[in-house]
Amino acid sequence: MSKELISMAETIRSYSGFQGKKAIILGSGLGSLPDQFENKTIIPYEKVPGYPKPSVEGHSGEFVVGTLHGEEILAAKGRFHYYEGFDVSEITLPIRLFHELGIKCVLITNSAGSMRKDYSPGTFMAINGHLDCTFIDGPESPSPKKGAPFYNSSFLDLAKKCSIETGIDLKEGVYCWAMGPTYETPEEILYFQQLGGDVVGMSTVPEIQMAAECGIKSLGISCLTNYASGITKEPLTHEEVIETADKVKNQFSTLVTKILIEADTN
Ligand code: HPA
Repeated sequence: MSKELISMAETIRSYSGFQGKKAIILGSGLGSLPDQFENKTIIPYEKVPGYPKPSVEGHSGEFVVGTLHGEEILAAKGRFHYYEGFDVSEITLPIRLFHELGIKCVLITNSAGSMRKDYSPGTFMAINGHLDCTFIDGPESPSPKKGAPFYNSSFLDLAKKCSIETGIDLKEGVYCWAMGPTYETPEEILYFQQLGGDVVGMSTVPEIQMAAECGIKSLGISCLTNYASGITKEPLTHEEVIETADKVKNQFSTLVTKILIEADTN
């Protein structure tokens, strides 16, 4: 694989001249942040030899390289999910490519369903722990993973500081990785709550795990697009997820941009 990774990294560098240390993965409906990049280069995934192509609505499948306040950033718009038929090595490929490119810190964003009444749709949450609720590794009940090597307290503190300085509310909590592709049943949500989860989504955990393995500092930020199944009586739809993400995209960009710019790459 590493020969392929070297050639993918070479492709990114030859299109864009990228030499930065920071990257961001943009989740579904959250892809507008690179609109503000200066000196932008767009590299569709299909231009990168061997790179997979995502298939989900709201994911366009391209890298965007550019500068934000003079800082070079690599953004990946569109990610790979287990439920699309990708295996864990494909899902984590963006992180391994970032590692090959010398990236030291990555923001990983997603849309998620809130399992807490006090975390209402449209708010953001910094992930401070996770639960793997996919049962890929066996039937044992998952236990929350918090702290090192996955969660970095100074990165979480920075996110909190940026929330205070921008006035954009940022909760903290535990993200449950569910298999999808369908939304959960109310019974599953009850179970995830009992395990200690706060929000639920279908991505991010493999990327956080791989970042830790590569020694890349990561921070996950969820956009809470809906109440999870059974939290309210309203049925939940993909349209609601996209609609909420779209409504708060400017706030999301403001908060995430500030975190990216101030993030420490040492
Ligand atoms: N469940 C799983 N994934 C999601 C949800 C949800 O409620 N909302 C956005 N992504």
